[in-house]
This record gives sequence, C-alpha cells and structure tokens, in this order.
Amino acid sequence: MISTKSRLILKGKTKEHRINCLAIQSPLAGVSDHVFRKLIRKWAPKALLFTEMVNATSLNLGHGTKKIAKLSKELGPIGVQLFDYRPDAMAEAAKQAEAAGAFLIDINMGCPVKKISKKGGGSGLLKDASLAAKIVTTVANAVDIPVTVKTRLGWDEASSDPISFGLRLQDAGAQLLTLHGRTREQGFNGKADWESIAKVKAKLSIPVIANGDIRNPDNALQCLQQTNADGIMIGRGSMGAPWLIGQIDLAIRGEPIFKTPSAKEKIIITLEHLNGLIESNGDHGLLIARKHINWTISGFPGSSDLRKSLVRIESPFKAIKLLEESIKSVSS
Ligand SMILES: Cc1cc2nc3c(=O)[nH]c(=O)nc-3n(C[C@H](O)[C@H](O)[C@H](O)COP(=O)(O)O)c2cc1C
Repeated sequence: MISTKSRLILKGKTKEHRINCLAIQSPLAGVSDHVFRKLIRKWAPKALLFTEMVNATSLNLGHGTKKIAKLSKELGPIGVQLFDYRPDAMAEAAKQAEAAGAFLIDINMGCPVKKISKKGGGSGLLKDASLAAKIVTTVANAVDIPVTVKTRLGWDEASSDPISFGLRLQDAGAQLLTLHGRTREQGFNGKADWESIAKVKAKLSIPVIANGDIRNPDNALQCLQQTNADGIMIGRGSMGAPWLIGQIDLAIRGEPIFKTPSAKEKIIITLEHLNGLIESNGDHGLLIARKHINWTISGFPGSSDLRKSLVRIESPFKAIKLLEESIKSVSS
C-alpha cells in the first residue's frame, strides 16, 4: 500500500485501485443514495463516495438491490458498504456488488443500531475480533476489488483496543481502515477522539482514514495534521452540503476554495435534489427530500419560512413550483 499526499493506492487482486482525492464521503444510511452522490460529484469528481450500508443477506435474497443498481452508470469510484455477521453471506453479497460495479467493498463494523449489533453485525463485530477477521478474509478471497473496513474505537471505553483490532483486520486482508473516533457506547456523543486515531495510524501499515466531527476545510486540515491519517471521511457535515467534500479536497491540495453556494444556488441544488428523488422514487421522493430540504435551505434570509412551507407541501408538483418561484425571487 502506498499513500502519497494527493492519492491512495489500494491493491486489488489483479490491479491497483487509485483514490485520487483524500476527502472521502461517508456511507450514510437514508442519505447517500445515488441522487445524493450525483450532486456531490459536481464538486468532487474524483472522490470516493459510498452507498448507504447494505444488508448482505437482503442483497442475497434479492432485496436492497436498488442500492447498487446504478453503480456502473455513475461516474467516479463508489464503494459499497455491506453489513452482516455471516462471512459467507458477506462474500456472496460482495460478489454481487463487484459485478454491479463497486470500486471496493467496505465492511461495516461500527453501526450502533441494536437490531444489527445484537446479532453480531455492525459494531457487534467489535466484540468478536476473530469473526471480524474471518469476514474480512472470506470477502477478500471472494472478490478481486479491495476490501476495507469502517469501524469505531471499540465497543466501550473499558474494552477499547483499536490498535489490536486494526492489526488483526490488516493481517486478515483489509486494505484500508476508516476509524470513527468514538466507541459504540458513545454513539455520537462527546468529541471524536482524533488522538486515538493518530495512535492507530502510527501502528498500521495500511492506510488509515480519520472520521468524526470534520465539518469544514479548516478542521479537516487540523484532523489530517493531528492524526497523520492518509485521508479523511466526512459524514454529517456533508448532509445538506454536497459541495463540502469538494471544498475540503481543494483545501488538502492547497488550492483556492470556491465559495459556499449562495441562497439562490442552494435553492437550485435543492430543486435538483428533489427532481432526482422524484425521478427515482415517484411521489414518495418528496418525503425523502424533506430532510435534505431542512438541511440545505438554511443560513440565508427567508430560509426558515421557505423551509417551513416546503416541508408542509404534500404535492411534489407544488414543491417544485415553490422552489422555481423562489429561485426567481431570491436576489443572489
Ligand atoms: C444519518 C446517518 C447515517 C449513517 N449511516 C452510516 C452507514 O450506513 N454506514 C456507516 O458506516 N456509518 C454510517 N453513519 C456514520 C457516519 O458514516 C460517520 O461515521 C459518523 O457520522 C461520524 O462522522 P461525522 O462526524 O463526519 O458525521 C451514519 C451517520 C449518520 C448521521
């Protein structure tokens, strides 16, 4: 594995896989669908983006295929994140995702949702390093593309040992480790512990990606400096701000950063997002769009009123009309 200042190189079985942008988009359940990814691409054409986490067993049973259906048509690298606790189910699903056009397979070892972790998947794997390693090896044997892991610092503070866990995954064949600087017990509380990420980075030979509380180009650079990580992953900061990965990429490259979109541009982005969700989901697209509307339509005069009106509207046609009118009436 080689990491340089501007790219990461992962070794697949038959060829190298280059990541030419050190700012990476998090997998975000309920958020990072293909419509969201298409928006991010405008500002970050080379970034590694992720699907929402996909249940491996469901994929094998033919459900959840929508999450990987359009991968081959998308521009740029897309990682498929899988979760489960059964190595063979994970391997089967990984093959499907590879055939669909995945750039890499990421294994979720951090999801705190009880339904998942109590069966042993997601963050449940933090309690069973042997099974976690077996999943990595089984999946890596099944596909040609790189296999990576996204995890947390541990199940709880008392049992946290991310260096041993990371080394175990590295030995099992993981090509890259993304570390969210919190334990499962913490959920999203407290501050992400970048110091602990730095300690893991210092011990592993595979690339380590720092994750947690990166919200803007300045603190992205701070995180890179503090952790010496090979890249950073951004989750919540990009919700409602599909341009953020692009801004952070430029900051890392030391290039001038474009301005955050104006009020008018934010409304245009929201309209595009809504249209994409309706195209993909029919009228239900409006319901899915509501959270994005809440996040993006903010921070400018009149945004609160516009947001409130938009989330009350029940017809996609009326929501589109209101956005179109707002684009005309807003000054910049
Ligand atoms: C709405 C939401 C959905 C998430 N879905 C996933 C997921 O599918 N897979 C995953 O590994 N992490 C998921 N996460 C965790 C994020 O990827 C990320 O690790 C976490 O939010 C910390 O990074 P941040 O501070 O940049 O948000 C999710 C987080 C949120 C808020």
